[in-house]
Amino acid sequence: MERTILLTGGAGFIGSHVAVELLQQGCRVIIADDLSNSCEDVVQRIGAITGREPIFYQTDVADRAALERVFAAEPVEAVVHLAGYKAVGESVQKPLMYYRNNLDSTLTLLEVMDAHDVRQIIFSSSATVYGEKNPIPYTEQMPTGGCTNPYGWTKYMIEQMLKDLAASDPRWSAVCLRYFNPVGAHESGLIGEAPNGIPNNLMPYVTQTAAGIRKELTVFGGDYPTPDGTCMRDFIHVVDLARGHAAALEYARRESGWIAINLGSGRPSSVLELVHTFQEANDIPVPHRVGDRREGDLASYYADATRAKELLDWQTEKTLADMCRDSWRWQQNSQGK
Ligand code: UFG
Repeated sequence: MERTILLTGGAGFIGSHVAVELLQQGCRVIIADDLSNSCEDVVQRIGAITGREPIFYQTDVADRAALERVFAAEPVEAVVHLAGYKAVGESVQKPLMYYRNNLDSTLTLLEVMDAHDVRQIIFSSSATVYGEKNPIPYTEQMPTGGCTNPYGWTKYMIEQMLKDLAASDPRWSAVCLRYFNPVGAHESGLIGEAPNGIPNNLMPYVTQTAAGIRKELTVFGGDYPTPDGTCMRDFIHVVDLARGHAAALEYARRESGWIAINLGSGRPSSVLELVHTFQEANDIPVPHRVGDRREGDLASYYADATRAKELLDWQTEKTLADMCRDSWRWQQNSQGK
């Protein structure tokens, strides 16, 4: 029988790619999203890619009555919980808004799931839970905490909630996926990342600069202790990331308990390497200059991706050039939309 999977935040950048992957694998996909940082068009575009539209509920996950209606109407077997605020800088400005939204929505979701006997959850966590003190590469056994902003702390706290819940009741299965730096877009050019206003993250800034929307990219810092002096990150193509969620759902179906799994390539690339790869792969200039460091940035971190390989039989397949080509295709397709 086909599985019904609920994606909270399923209209967003990562959620839309997870929806495509699961629909292509023959799942029924339900999206609950309040569209606070996404657009309903995405639902049709997911349908255009896969030939089958997800079922869409415009719902705030913290709205218990609305969420109850979703669970009453749909035979949900497992949940991928992607809904949440995610802007690091904004979380420093508005910590209560971040704690209220991210924690409250998760508590409501877990209570409603439990009441409906749904106890498999995949949670969108982040490499940010490793804090500032761990050596690289990061392994899942390392201590977490020491986060540098409220956004990161919400990820840390939700991981802890899930750990406590799974310890209290062996029927729960909770997989916390610690994302490294997701970039890229679906190769159709129909779905991708659509930040509001001036982008905070590197790849959208690069694509908007290539498109002439921004004059110049500032590379934040050229004096880090790395080979070219710029920061290094573990960039992961969002389609590889989405495949990791499908594999995690299979895992949650077989195994109970709590586990954290890194989703990264295991290979760091520098900011300048990404900019140069983008220019070459797309044959387009990205005006840039090296400026001051951005407060709070770590010099370099990347995943030890061994656990994902062992437990999920998953590893990344796409290259940095693929990420650059697909991000650029999406930028060109989405202009004016
Ligand atoms: N960068 C620039 N110029 C820009 C934007 C970014 O040089 O205009 C650099 C940053 O300094 C950093 C790298 O590009 O070295 C990546 O920056 P991003 O903002 O794209 O990503 P971060 O690594 O800072 O943040 C990511 C996620 C967060 C998460 C954080 C920690 O976006 O959600 O990792 O794990 F919290």
